[in-house]
Amino acid sequence: MINVVSEETIKEQKEYMNQVKEHTKGLCYLIQTMGCKLNENDSEKIAGMLEQMGYQPTQSVEDANLVVFNTCSIRENAAERVFGKLGEIKALKEKNHMIICFGGCMSQEKHIVEKIKTSYPFVDIIFGTHNFYKLPEMLYHKMTDTKKVIDVWDIDGEIIEGLPIKREDTKSALVTIMNGCNNFCSYCIVPYTRGRERSRNPKDIVREIEALAKEGYKEVMLLGQNVNSYKGGEGYTFANLLTDIDHIEGIDIIRFMSPHPKDFKEDVIEAIANSKHVCKIIHLPLQSGSTRVLKLMNRGYSKETFLELVSKIRNRIPDVNFTTDIIVGFPGETEEDFLETLDVVEKVRFEQIFMFMYSVRHGTKAETMPNHVPEETKSERFQRLKLLADRITEEENVKYVGTTQKILVEGESKTNPDVLTGRTETYKVVNFVGDKSLIGKEVLVKIVSQHIWYLKGEII
Ligand code: SAH
Ligand code: SF4
Ligand code: F3S
Repeated sequence: MINVVSEETIKEQKEYMNQVKEHTKGLCYLIQTMGCKLNENDSEKIAGMLEQMGYQPTQSVEDANLVVFNTCSIRENAAERVFGKLGEIKALKEKNHMIICFGGCMSQEKHIVEKIKTSYPFVDIIFGTHNFYKLPEMLYHKMTDTKKVIDVWDIDGEIIEGLPIKREDTKSALVTIMNGCNNFCSYCIVPYTRGRERSRNPKDIVREIEALAKEGYKEVMLLGQNVNSYKGGEGYTFANLLTDIDHIEGIDIIRFMSPHPKDFKEDVIEAIANSKHVCKIIHLPLQSGSTRVLKLMNRGYSKETFLELVSKIRNRIPDVNFTTDIIVGFPGETEEDFLETLDVVEKVRFEQIFMFMYSVRHGTKAETMPNHVPEETKSERFQRLKLLADRITEEENVKYVGTTQKILVEGESKTNPDVLTGRTETYKVVNFVGDKSLIGKEVLVKIVSQHIWYLKGEII
C-alpha cells in the first residue's frame, strides 16, 4: 500500500505559502534544473509553489533573490557542474540577499550533504527528493529564524498530489505517473536517490490529464523510472493506463519514458498497437549488447531476449521506431563485449541513441567491481559508437525525404527566428518556414531534405 501525502499536510504547506508571501514583494526566483524529465516535472511543481508564495520568475541569476538547484546524481559530470555553479553564485548572494536552496537527487547522498555543509556553508536550505513539497515550510523558517534548514528524508517515498504547478510548456505536459525504482541496475544511483517504486492512483492521473486537455494541452509525456511496472491497484496496469489516456478527448499525442525491456509485456504492446494517440516510438534502454555485461549490470534480459522483444514489437506495430540509452566502458567490458553492443545497434537501427561513458557512482554495486575500463578506452568506444549511430541516423533520415509528416508546431527555431520547428511522431526535429500563428497547432509538412540533426520540410 503506497502512502499518499495527506490533504492536511498539503494544506499546511499552503498556509506556509501564505505566510511566506508576506515577505516576497518584488522578489525573483530562478530554478536550475540539472536532471531528467522527472526532475523537470518536480521543478515545475517547485515553481508553482514559489509563484504561489509571490516570487516572480527571472532568467538571470544576477536578478534572483532565491535560487533553487534541482540536482542530478546520474553521472559524475552532472554533479561537478552543480559545484561549479554554486561557486559562481557565492559572490551574488550578499548583493541580492539571496536564499540558496539545494535539492534533487544529489541531496539524497549523505557524502554530498556533508560536502555542502563543510565547503559551501552559504547554502541556506537543503531538501531531498521525498520532501520537496515542504519547501514553503523550510522557506518560512529560513525567513523567520534565519537559520540554515537541512531536511532530507531517508525513506522509500510517498506520492504527492495537489501541489500547484507552473508548467514550462503550454502544449506539451509532463505527467509523472510513478516514482522510484526497484531494479538496482548495478551502475545506477537512482534507487538510492528516489526510493522504491510507487505509482499514482489512476484516477488522479486521468483527472490531471483531462484538466490539461481542457486547458488546451495536446501532448502528454508520462514519466517514471520504469513506467511499465506501473501498478494502479486491483490489477490495473500501465497498459490499462495507456488505453484510458488514449480515450481522453483533446490529447492527440501520448509519449512515455522510460519502459524497462524486462517488463515490456504483451499487454503494453497491444495497448500501443490498438491506440490512436500513443506515439509509435519507444524508448527501449539497451545499456549494453553483451549478455555477459547485461548480467553484471543486473538488467534482467540478454542480447537475444532484447532482440526478440524488438522483433515482437515490430511484428505487431510495423511502423514502430526505437530510441535507446547505451553505456560504454562498464567495468569489465571487453572489446568483444563492445562489439556485441555495436552488433545490436546495427540490427535494431535505433532512431536515436543517448550514449554515456560509464561513471562510477558511490555506493553502487559496480563501484567495487573489478577491471574498471580506462578513460581512453571509454572515449574511444564512445567515438566508435557515435560514428555508427550517425551513419545509421543519416541512412534512416533519408527515408523521410519525400514523406508527409504531421507536426505539432513547437515554436521558432533556436538558431533562426524565421523558421518554425516541431517534431514528427517519431520525435525527429523538423524545421520549416511558416507563420508564427501556427505555433501550438498541428500542420502537415512535406520533408524535403535531411541534415543528421534535423529534417527540413515545407508546409503543404
Ligand atoms: N530508468 C531509466 C534510466 C534513467 S537514467 C532506465 O532504466 O532506462 C538514464 C540513463 O543514464 C540510463 O539509461 C543509463 O544509460 C545512464 N546511466 C545511469 N547510470 C549511469 C552511470 N553510472 N554511468 C553512465 N551512465 C549511466
Ligand atoms: Fe537506474 Fe536501472 Fe532503475 Fe533505470 S531501471 S533507474 S537504470 S536502476
Ligand atoms: Fe538524475 Fe535523479 Fe533523474 S539522478 S536522472 S535527476 S532521477
